[in-house]
Amino acid sequence: MQALRVNQERLWRSLMDLASIGATPKGGVRRVTLTEADRQGRDQFVSWAREAGLAVSVDTIGNIFARRSGADSGAAPVVMGSHLDSQPSGGKFDGAYGVMAGLEVVRTLNEAGIATRAPLEVAAWTNEEGSRFVPTMMGSGVFAGVHTLEHALAQQDAEGVSVRAALEHIGYAGSAKPHRVGAYFEAHIEQGPVLEATKTTIGVVQGALGQRWFDVLVTGQDAHAGPTPMETRRDALLAASRLAVEVNRIATTYPDYARGTVGFLQVKPNSRNVVPGEVRLTVDFRNAKDATLGAMVAELKRSIDRIERECRVAVELREVVYFPPSEFAPDLVAGVRKAAENLGYTHRDIVSGAAHDAVYLARIAPAAMVFVPCEGGISHNEIETATPADVAAGCNVLLHAVLARAGVASKQEALS
Ligand code: GLV
Ligand code: MN
Ligand code: MN
Repeated sequence: MQALRVNQERLWRSLMDLASIGATPKGGVRRVTLTEADRQGRDQFVSWAREAGLAVSVDTIGNIFARRSGADSGAAPVVMGSHLDSQPSGGKFDGAYGVMAGLEVVRTLNEAGIATRAPLEVAAWTNEEGSRFVPTMMGSGVFAGVHTLEHALAQQDAEGVSVRAALEHIGYAGSAKPHRVGAYFEAHIEQGPVLEATKTTIGVVQGALGQRWFDVLVTGQDAHAGPTPMETRRDALLAASRLAVEVNRIATTYPDYARGTVGFLQVKPNSRNVVPGEVRLTVDFRNAKDATLGAMVAELKRSIDRIERECRVAVELREVVYFPPSEFAPDLVAGVRKAAENLGYTHRDIVSGAAHDAVYLARIAPAAMVFVPCEGGISHNEIETATPADVAAGCNVLLHAVLARAGVASKQEALS
């Protein structure tokens, strides 16, 4: 069993074939959640899963589960997964890797004729990215009971299309009810620079930063760019710009992996000779400590009070995502470390700066993650890339950590 390895070429080919769905000119993918490209990506995964002999089900928020039975049919499955949706200008690996790695583990076991005691499942969670619809990690959040199904289905994108309508449109509004999970493993590219900079193959993920996301509406007044004196303007874009500078200042002055990002800005009326009267923007705050995250938000609110006064605008702050920092299950994390060690890969403990479905799965089952390096630490970018050897290494770690958890069935058990 120790000698068992996944098929590097097959894993890489699957990743590249999947990346041809929604491919962008710069080598990335645009498979925004619940769009036609997402549907095609899902269809491809379902077809590969069926070819591998897996039983596919879809739940009410569109999560896909592909199940391989175990010798003990009453045992809760060991689940591997991630997401197939991407950022509008995303890369080939973010999410797709975790799903394809799960599939490769199953294909490897099929080929080797190995049965596990607990059933195995490969999961593709709906709308992990949170770009078209908030909240992020929607599918795993509903599955874990963090969000209600009704709340998730009612969310709308910028065009007013609801999650419910989009799910029905692509044919992935299923009926499967949430089920037990024995353990959850997610393989992912690091999306940051640490592994590459330290020449490390495997990141043993300890947990993930907490996050607080806000939708912000700044209301000033449209005015003529010529006759309106500078001191009487109510410039919503000037206020929004100052707010963006504050977000950056706050994130650079707080400890514990503080991060602050304004990634979305919509200016109205967006005309070169009109003082902008309305701006919508987003704020994304992250930290390894919940109390520090709270302090960052309190400071943002103080900055907003000042900006409102000084720019003569009104600022509305609406919190749309909040989850505290999370820690993964020590025994599962130890299992990932042990697998990396046994396989002879360099490894180090690491904290995830990104959100992952594992964060919500950790609330209902022991969960852990395996990271592999990505070039330059670049992700959420079309040029995101990783090497075939590294993605295969992460998949080998996944294979052995999963086998240790699910248990290998004896020939007799497998037949009975
Ligand atoms: C997920 O992609 C995140 O923003 O962390
Ligand atoms: Mn991801
Ligand atoms: Mn992502």
